[in-house]
Amino acid sequence: MIKKLSLSIIIMTLQLSVYCQYPNVNNDLDKKIKSFLKGNADSWNDMNIPITDGKVLYDIIIKNNYKNALEIGTSTGHSAIWIAWALSKTGGKLTTIEIDKERYLQAKSNFKKAGVEKYIDARLGDAHEIVPAIEGNFDFVFSDADKYWYKNYFIAMDPKIKDGGCFTAHNTAMQVSGIKEFLDYLEGLKNYKTTIDKSSRSGISVSYKIGEKQ
Ligand SMILES: C[S@@+](CC[C@H](N)C(=O)[O-])C[C@H]1O[C@@H](n2cnc3c(N)ncnc32)[C@H](O)[C@@H]1O
Repeated sequence: MIKKLSLSIIIMTLQLSVYCQYPNVNNDLDKKIKSFLKGNADSWNDMNIPITDGKVLYDIIIKNNYKNALEIGTSTGHSAIWIAWALSKTGGKLTTIEIDKERYLQAKSNFKKAGVEKYIDARLGDAHEIVPAIEGNFDFVFSDADKYWYKNYFIAMDPKIKDGGCFTAHNTAMQVSGIKEFLDYLEGLKNYKTTIDKSSRSGISVSYKIGEKQ
């Protein structure tokens, strides 16, 4: 009996801690996005970020009032929905890139269901080509595609990131090929301040641009 009770308390605590990660709901769009995310919380099976990391990205955008965001590696759209949710508050827009057609189409359908499609420009193609060619000034980048290319993505985006903007990258606490090279490169830059958010096991590097290249 006591065992059963303790188990129920643990389950309720876990459910409550996941529930608490969602931002406050203030309008119909918030309700729609939250309901979509909650309803699909257990069905992100395409290398998608966990809820904890979605909330980390959401908070960074809100805190800094970022408006022009780029995501590299959409998959089926979990992180993009979190980013777009934050951008719906700041009046911003997300461009997101995916190379796999099936995942791209699934992401587009998810954006519609979550009600965030008007905040997202989803592009199908190879980020190795799209990222260097993309025009504009960005204040937020989330890199979550091929890890061995992270450093190249950063180098291509650096001149397009505004002062005060930031470049974030997923899985940087993991021993994956290319991550060390990427983090070593960041460490050598005096005009970026990098920390690793370890809210989840994967780790998100967060590099704020604090000035022009020296
Ligand atoms: C880890 S998943 C992204 C998960 C997504 N950010 C989320 O949380 O929902 C990485 C995605 O990057 C895509 N990808 C890998 N290399 C790419 C490239 N060169 N250009 C565009 N997308 C790429 C993969 O097809 C995969 O869907």
